[in-house]
Amino acid sequence: MDFGIKGKTAIVTGASSGLGKAIAEGFAAEGANVVLFARRAQLLEANARELQEKYAAKVRVVAGDMRNKSDIGRLSAVAGEWGGPDILVINTGRPPVPMRAILDESEDERWQAAYETQLWGAVLLVREIVPRLVERGWGRVIAVTSASVKQPMPHHGLSTIFRAGVTGMLKHLANEVGTKGVTVNTVCPGSIATASMGNYDMTERIRRLPVGRLGTPAELASAVLYFASQQAGFITGASLQVDGGGVGSLY
Ligand SMILES: NC(=O)c1ccc[n+]([C@@H]2O[C@H](COP(=O)([O-])OP(=O)(O)OC[C@H]3O[C@@H](n4cnc5c(N)ncnc54)[C@H](OP(=O)(O)O)[C@@H]3O)[C@@H](O)[C@H]2O)c1
Repeated sequence: MDFGIKGKTAIVTGASSGLGKAIAEGFAAEGANVVLFARRAQLLEANARELQEKYAAKVRVVAGDMRNKSDIGRLSAVAGEWGGPDILVINTGRPPVPMRAILDESEDERWQAAYETQLWGAVLLVREIVPRLVERGWGRVIAVTSASVKQPMPHHGLSTIFRAGVTGMLKHLANEVGTKGVTVNTVCPGSIATASMGNYDMTERIRRLPVGRLGTPAELASAVLYFASQQAGFITGASLQVDGGGVGSLY
């Protein structure tokens, strides 16, 4: 399927590893220009080389921290050099590890880190990039949140709380920019196999999943690409779980 985004410029944050890396690859495979953003410059450079070699893609790297306004400003400027940005994928760092029950979350620093990494960075990205999409009269915003916004999991409070904040912000945004040609959606991953799972034993989780296996980063990326496509122009304000059926609710 041709998603109609060849030549569009996509910003992908958290693109040095895991889901962000796979999402960036999805855009490169579709012929979009990709701007990779994260803190680890060497990994970003290696990912960029891979995409250039594999897809002859136009790829730029911006090393920076999404909690830092001037880094976001540089990101925006680089995307502007291609006449973009057209697509913004907000993919953030993880909540503090180890995960704990709410009543065990007694350290202010963990709350602050969870807020800044998952929600404040998303606010800064929206404030800088979305007005530019609106000016251009076409755009796609997709945030990667978590299946925990649909069904909170034990000990995932510092994920659920701030990703619910991202979901709320993007729902407002969808209402505000819909008539400007900009759609805004979220994808909610659960149980996607990335290195960030570390050495957790996933046997019991897999046993409970309707599909009986973990997801792949490419499967998550496919949902992001669909939301970014021309075909998805009538879908906005939606939150789609990509979780092998793990969320137990009807909606
Ligand atoms: N995998 C799953 O099943 C799953 C489920 C639910 C939610 N999620 C969420 O989905 C997101 C991606 O997951 P993942 O498995 O791909 O994790 P990951 O491999 O740890 O990726 C996180 C990315 O965010 C970047 N990052 C972290 N802090 C940053 C900062 N302050 N500024 C800029 N970039 C930053 C990291 O790069 P640098 O370190 O180079 O900056 C990395 O590229 C995470 O938020 C995760 O919690 C994943």
